[in-house]
Amino acid sequence: MAQSVKGTRDLFGGELDWFQRIEDTVRRAFHRHGYSEIRTPILEEIEVFKRSVGESSDIVHKEMYDFFDKGKRHVAMRPENTAGVVRAVIQHQMLATSDPQLLYYIGPMFRYERMQAGRYRQFWQIGAESFQVSTPESEAESLVMLYDFLRELGLTQLTFSINSVGTPECRPAFHEAFRAFFAAREAEFCEDCHRRIEENPLRVLDCKNARCQAALEGHPVLVDFLDPASREHHERLKEILTTLGLPFEENPRLVRGLDYYTRTAFEVLSTDLGAQSALLGGGRYDGLVKQLGGPQVAAFGWSIGLDRLVTLMQQLHGKAPRQAPPVLIPLGPAATLKALELARAWWAAGLEVVLETRGAKLKNALTTANRQGAPLALILGDGELEQGVVAVKDLAAGTQEAWALDTVQQRLLDRR
Ligand code: HAM
Repeated sequence: MAQSVKGTRDLFGGELDWFQRIEDTVRRAFHRHGYSEIRTPILEEIEVFKRSVGESSDIVHKEMYDFFDKGKRHVAMRPENTAGVVRAVIQHQMLATSDPQLLYYIGPMFRYERMQAGRYRQFWQIGAESFQVSTPESEAESLVMLYDFLRELGLTQLTFSINSVGTPECRPAFHEAFRAFFAAREAEFCEDCHRRIEENPLRVLDCKNARCQAALEGHPVLVDFLDPASREHHERLKEILTTLGLPFEENPRLVRGLDYYTRTAFEVLSTDLGAQSALLGGGRYDGLVKQLGGPQVAAFGWSIGLDRLVTLMQQLHGKAPRQAPPVLIPLGPAATLKALELARAWWAAGLEVVLETRGAKLKNALTTANRQGAPLALILGDGELEQGVVAVKDLAAGTQEAWALDTVQQRLLDRR
């Protein structure tokens, strides 16, 4: 029997209920803040990711689902969506004026990762990207939106972990100091870090190897090498977060696994489940639009791993609150035809009703309704039809009463 591909999974039932509930909550938050949705293709030319996420990043170096299509184009299934959104805003000249562009997306991403709890090869992200906004205030606006919708979902133990990774101009001095630090203890670092120190020294700070993390003790920190404008930006953001009461801590090793960040880089950590874990990440990427062939514009954004957020919701709140609809059970051909007419009118009125269409016996139909968690069974037999009523069985209480047919719609609406 065929199984889903390793690292991918089917979403349905209770888990999907949470996906939908979170998506609804986040869409409302995005719309309140004036963000519009963008849907970009899953397939992009591989260069889009190589030139943005970076060839030295693990994502491009080790984890990309890339292949040559039948037209011999080298394409990749998107490992993230910032690069695709940037490609799209350039292609559609969305940055022709200096107006801010506030965009969001919800969709699947693909990374060929080593399997471990909470990490998938097809996973889902919700992301926000804003263009032509350069101020720390604009970052705060995006972070407030993020923080408040996570709170709306019931998460309370949240902390922003923030850093400034500066600009490409202030990095050479940092790289020099960092390479000297690395050279003095290079035997303590893993083989990957020896490659990273050549390709992109910042990546060494991000190494997951515990020995490398220990060897980093006392390393030169980026914030000491910031140019005055980047320093001022960083200080101002911290001031705003403090004023707005968004909890944060500074993390000088936070560089994130992608190459495009400038100035602010951040993650959101949650201890809602005990052990601290990163729910999401993002930052400023002022050079990326130009790097991919567009104008020089400022940009900022973040993405949440939806799978991880759903797991958190399930562990914190159990099942997503969802009431199964009542079931309408007609008995016999005349009642079935009438039931189709009635249900059609109720659906048009916005009611949720499941229609029993199998021609099942009452006992079997009630068993199914109970298994589906229906609160009410509306039973329509020839006798009820003659009297102009429907027998309404409360499946939890086991009680039954007759409702006049012309009152059912209103009574169901009143129960919502
Ligand atoms: P990222 O940190 O690579 O950033 O991914 C963001 C989030 O996606 C992670 O915090 C995690 O929750 C989730 N995630 C990543 N890989 C997996 C996986 N294999 N399984 C489950 N969840 C995963 C980005 O992707 C950037 N595009 C964020 C950004 C937007 N920066 C600026 N704008």
